[in-house]
Amino acid sequence: MITFKKVKDLQQHLDQYWQRNEDIGFVPTMGALHGGHLSLLKTSMKENKLSVCSIFVNPAQFNDPADFMKYPSTINDDIFKLETTGCDILFLPSVEEIYPDGFDLKQKYDLGYLETILEGEFRPGHFQGVCMAVERLLLIVQPDKLYLGQKDYQQCMIISRLIHLMGLETKVKIRICPILRENDGLAMSSRNMRLNKEQRAKAPALYETLIFLKQNIRNGSLRDLKRQATDDLQKKGFKTDYVEIVNAETLKPINEWDARVNIFGVVAASTDEVRLIDNMMIN
Ligand code: PAJ
Repeated sequence: MITFKKVKDLQQHLDQYWQRNEDIGFVPTMGALHGGHLSLLKTSMKENKLSVCSIFVNPAQFNDPADFMKYPSTINDDIFKLETTGCDILFLPSVEEIYPDGFDLKQKYDLGYLETILEGEFRPGHFQGVCMAVERLLLIVQPDKLYLGQKDYQQCMIISRLIHLMGLETKVKIRICPILRENDGLAMSSRNMRLNKEQRAKAPALYETLIFLKQNIRNGSLRDLKRQATDDLQKKGFKTDYVEIVNAETLKPINEWDARVNIFGVVAASTDEVRLIDNMMIN
């Protein structure tokens, strides 16, 4: 694996692949890598001549400065994991390299209603910040395929919108990869490292909520179902931001069960100061 810290050096290396029209797969991350990240990389390695992974903890997407300060950093471990998985290129830029003119979080991208619902409602400005980093990274790497996790399903939709706004739909294909979970159902996440033993034991509650929705979606009112799921999470010691049942194509809430529509259960909840999210196709 070759590591590049500078845009100029990375692009000099990528140029031979661009010239030969060879497929480049790109896996953007914020590090603290786990099996979920590596599954994206493995899929990219199967489908492309060259796979580039980036590690950049993007300050622009943290609406809560304390969350940014506490974001886990395990760079030596990450490099080891990428190397043993067989990653070709690691791009490890500084904040100055990504934002040479600084990052001013004004409303820059027209993301429509997608940025005011669910994660957007509870993390104002977050998706504008995600778009700032991903736009810059896409312009630098110029990949053919972009690998994203269903774990952050709303982010996948936002980035798809960004690619449309950038006019790159025909150039960059998005691949959404399945959620990797621990044995007890907890979705793998860099934030799981911040859970203490007691919190870690409670954390599969989000997965259990989604299973509960899936098993009961056909029985009675969806409003009551969501209320019960929220109450159960609270009893297990969580502060719930949302438990929602949404249309998988639009992310808009659904109040009536309809077998013809693809439905996702989505949940976000915190145990003490660690906020977790999860989702699942439930029909
Ligand atoms: P990060 O949270 O590091 O996630 C990087 C990628 O890994 C995302 O596409 C995410 O959905 C995926 N991922 C996370 N957990 C996963 C799991 N359990 N199974 C499968 N895939 C998983 O998402 C970001 O970074 C940033 O917002 C980023 C896109 C890099 C922009 O800064």
